[in-house]
Amino acid sequence: MTKILVVFGATGQQGGSVIDAVLNDSELSKEYSLRAITRDIKRPSAQSLQSRGVEVVEADVDDPDSLSSALAQAHTVFIVTISIYDENLKARELRQTKDVADAAVAAGAQYLIYSSCVAAERLWGIPVTAFDSKADSEAYIRTLPIKSAFFSPGMFMQNYLTNQRPQPIPGKEGDEITYAIANFISPDAPIPLIDTVKDSGKYVGTILANPDRYAGNTFFAATAFYSYREAAEIITRITGKRTVYLQIPLEQWISYLPPGYDKAMSEMMRWVESPGYFGPQSNEEVKWTVQQVKDKLSTFEEFVESYATDMF
Ligand SMILES: NC(=O)c1ccc[n+]([C@@H]2O[C@H](COP(=O)([O-])OP(=O)(O)OC[C@H]3O[C@@H](n4cnc5c(N)ncnc54)[C@H](OP(=O)(O)O)[C@@H]3O)[C@@H](O)[C@H]2O)c1
Repeated sequence: MTKILVVFGATGQQGGSVIDAVLNDSELSKEYSLRAITRDIKRPSAQSLQSRGVEVVEADVDDPDSLSSALAQAHTVFIVTISIYDENLKARELRQTKDVADAAVAAGAQYLIYSSCVAAERLWGIPVTAFDSKADSEAYIRTLPIKSAFFSPGMFMQNYLTNQRPQPIPGKEGDEITYAIANFISPDAPIPLIDTVKDSGKYVGTILANPDRYAGNTFFAATAFYSYREAAEIITRITGKRTVYLQIPLEQWISYLPPGYDKAMSEMMRWVESPGYFGPQSNEEVKWTVQQVKDKLSTFEEFVESYATDMF
């Protein structure tokens, strides 16, 4: 009998990648049958999953009553929660994760895979709310009577299409346009990057193929480290659009953020600069993780080639 794999966030980047990885793998697709969770089954993204033969079920992590039927007969559950950067960030993510994880245990599930982040405050005494919210949830899952493994994605390459999109720098009329990526951290701070759409499923698929081997482990998921300076050079070389990294004062950077994001975002970027996105052992953690994955991981160069026209 196939094992039911329930995927939260199935219409999004990470969950969608997990679905793709299972459908495209002859072994995993024999071993697992997919159940995708969405809040609205009528959405095109949910309908498209149905048209690919995936069972799609409505549930909302803010509505505990919807979770028991969504998790009925589940064997393995992939959980991703969404960060909303307000004062309830930590409490909300912990409550959502607890509700899903408890419902999975109550349904008799055997294994949880949680999309996590490093425990900055607990392990190193430096509060990083956006990471600690997930680390608290991971700590809770580890207390439950169920096997679990953790997928900790690096910074998304996809950010270069959204909040880190190169912005045109005002210049004189007739000048060639120069684009800038702006932040307050050092141009040379190494940042682990993941193509979360193409690659999340490669890591999670590795856990799904060998759940006992990876129980208790965390995958620190990134192809490699790229500083902002290197990212700007790669974008320039591949797209032909001159892009530079601008190190700007913290106050100026904060002025570009959506209201309420300043604390969570600035403490996160300070952490990324030092000790490093995955903590002091970032290099070793990424090296070990990459060694576990048999599929080729996507480089930032490949990402820029794929999205060269969408980036500007
Ligand atoms: N950006 C980065 O560099 C980075 C790095 C590491 C980690 N992260 C973390 O990644 C997470 C976002 O992951 P993503 O990019 O894969 O998400 P995404 O593409 O934004 O998709 C969000 C998914 O969550 C589902 N969802 C939202 N609210 C829900 C609810 N109340 N109940 C059930 N499902 C709900 C949505 O489903 P429906 O809309 O279909 O209901 C959708 O499938 C955030 O927590 C962020 O902190 C981001």
